[in-house]
Amino acid sequence: MSEQIFGELDAILAEIQSAEISDLDQLEAFRIKYLGSKNILKPLGGQIRNVPNEKKKEFGQLLNKIKQEAAAKYQSLQDGLAQSQSENQAAGIDFSAPTQELRVGTRHPVSLVINRIIEIFTRLGFTIAEDREIEDDWHNFTAMNTPEHHPARDMQDTFYLQDSTTRLLRTHTSSVQSRVMTSQQPPIRIIAPGRVYRNETISARSHCQFHQVEGLYIDKNVSFADMKQTLLYYAKEMYGEDVRIRLRPSYFPFTEPSAEMDVYWGLKTERDHKITKGTGWLEILGCGMVDPNVLSNCGIDPEEYSGFAFGMGIERQAMLQYRIGDIRMLFENDVRFLKQFRSAY
Ligand code: DAH
Repeated sequence: MSEQIFGELDAILAEIQSAEISDLDQLEAFRIKYLGSKNILKPLGGQIRNVPNEKKKEFGQLLNKIKQEAAAKYQSLQDGLAQSQSENQAAGIDFSAPTQELRVGTRHPVSLVINRIIEIFTRLGFTIAEDREIEDDWHNFTAMNTPEHHPARDMQDTFYLQDSTTRLLRTHTSSVQSRVMTSQQPPIRIIAPGRVYRNETISARSHCQFHQVEGLYIDKNVSFADMKQTLLYYAKEMYGEDVRIRLRPSYFPFTEPSAEMDVYWGLKTERDHKITKGTGWLEILGCGMVDPNVLSNCGIDPEEYSGFAFGMGIERQAMLQYRIGDIRMLFENDVRFLKQFRSAY
């Protein structure tokens, strides 16, 4: 009988010694259990009458030891926890304060469109090429078959760097074509997303900075039909399976023949009439077979290789997809506008 009581006391002592307490609530529970007015040691103390006389002293000592250990542990924990709490308070940290809702950012509509374009073309085996926005005259114009005094230079009003006639802000991502072709040999299959600049008056429809994605595919026996199928695939992925496209003959110095591609937008509403100028078609890109002059300017043999290129405007497509009426919205960074865009891309 007495052995059982001693066993119980030993167990309680071990429990006190190993109790893990990390906050004030746990500490209070500890106090109530071992030191409170109804603590678990009280009923055990009454058991002393069942302990044989020769063991009563030992029993009393053990009981005291347990009480002292519990009190000592309580004291030191209380000091420690009170101190860390006052440190938190001094540091202005209130762990009981309700949290603020975490605001998750959204992607910019221009990034959403670029990411989607990248996703579509990388599926076709295109890789991404990026290059500088401050370009030289040669890569932006001359290499692209637009030498000085060529009338086509007037098509793009250029920002030149101060005190420089050769350094400029690139007017199109076509400059990346010459960068890539002068540094690697075919087969070449790249897209080049990036920002471009033109000295244009800012209005609802045009801006002095915008984004393009350039595409370039050079290999043996690349044909106009390859280009057409690639661009049709792009249009279907971007605008849906039953999209209609058309290629209109056009002129660019760096391609021959050249074309512009339109997608059919529709003529259902007055707004459709307005944005398509009554035709139902919207131009989204320029394209063509890379001019042999461009290939030889960049050190690629036009007898051996041919290729196609295209350049598309991003803001125009973002405005179409998200029905944004004014290009300036895309550069003002008004969060009330930006937070409306959510996507997996
Ligand atoms: N660079 C032209 C522009 O900014 C777009 C363009 C047209 C790019 C035809 C091309 C192309 O690569 O083949 O207006």
